[in-house]
Amino acid sequence: MPVVSTKPVYSGKAKDLFETDDPSVMRAYFRDSATAFNAQKKGEIHDKGKVNATISAYLFELCEKSGIKTHFIKQISENELLIKKVKIIPLEVIVRNITAGSLCKRLGIKEGKILKNPIVEFSYKDDALGDPLLTRAYIKDALEVADDKILDEITSLALKANEIFKEFFIGVGIKVVDFKLEFGTDKNGELLLADELSPDNFRFWDAKTNEKLDKDRFRQDLGNVEGAYQEMLKRVKEGSKSLIASPSVRNNKSTKYSVKVQVLPKKDILDPQGQAVEKALSSLGYKDISELRIGKEVVFKIDADSPAEVKKIVNEMCERLLANPVIEDFSIEIK
Ligand code: C5P
Repeated sequence: MPVVSTKPVYSGKAKDLFETDDPSVMRAYFRDSATAFNAQKKGEIHDKGKVNATISAYLFELCEKSGIKTHFIKQISENELLIKKVKIIPLEVIVRNITAGSLCKRLGIKEGKILKNPIVEFSYKDDALGDPLLTRAYIKDALEVADDKILDEITSLALKANEIFKEFFIGVGIKVVDFKLEFGTDKNGELLLADELSPDNFRFWDAKTNEKLDKDRFRQDLGNVEGAYQEMLKRVKEGSKSLIASPSVRNNKSTKYSVKVQVLPKKDILDPQGQAVEKALSSLGYKDISELRIGKEVVFKIDADSPAEVKKIVNEMCERLLANPVIEDFSIEIK
């Protein structure tokens, strides 16, 4: 575990970045501070840091499972993520499915119209200039911050992420209206999805009521901002439970594994069935038998990317359904 320093090397509007003793790893601390309209509006949202760090961790994992490489390493506390150090490309990559925000303002279109196709647009990540909208030519030939190859790669990753997010969130009754991504390159020049994935940089609407469950509640003074963030955390956790082993988020290199789970009553737990069988065996002359316990065996096949992943999923299955961890022990055999 990298040792942490106390002085941030970068302090953004809602996050602080710290170096660790590994030069290629950073620690991101998510604060409760909230800003809107290029920091003209400022405030605090109670527990936002914890919610955003946790939602980001879940969604980065979701991306990784689906083959999108990210800067995420792991969540190390409620407010903190360990991330790979990247050089951020100064572009805000915005994906839109439904009209809202600056698109409505710019084009005089009403909020809530489903776009014919998802739109990917780029803004220049520059607060002093108010993050202006860019054309490809501005990016390639004026700013020179990315070429066609990188822009094509970013566009395709952004659209892929959009499909992953839409599918995940509709499962928990949420429409993904739009969101902003940032990308960076690591020490090997690899393109990674970076920054955060949270209600600060997504617009989320309840699928039934269209209630806004994101930073628009803060931007537009809609009230219950904290409640909306907590609701999104709840839905993300709910979605992550049902996502386990879902084939749609597997990469195509997954393998079929055979699993055998053995569940037995714990040693210090009374096992009347085991005791009865032990007694009966003894009366048949098998006097050397002791500590006999009777349990169950569950066998199945599972598609996964690695034995480690199978172990993680099956462990969770045992804790949630196959065994009663209070009174039963379980062991897992993977082939
Ligand atoms: O304001 P606009 O409609 O362009 O925002 C589109 C999406 O990008 C919204 O989900 C918003 O939260 C996000 N965004 C962001 N940071 C910015 C600008 C937009 O996270 N600087």
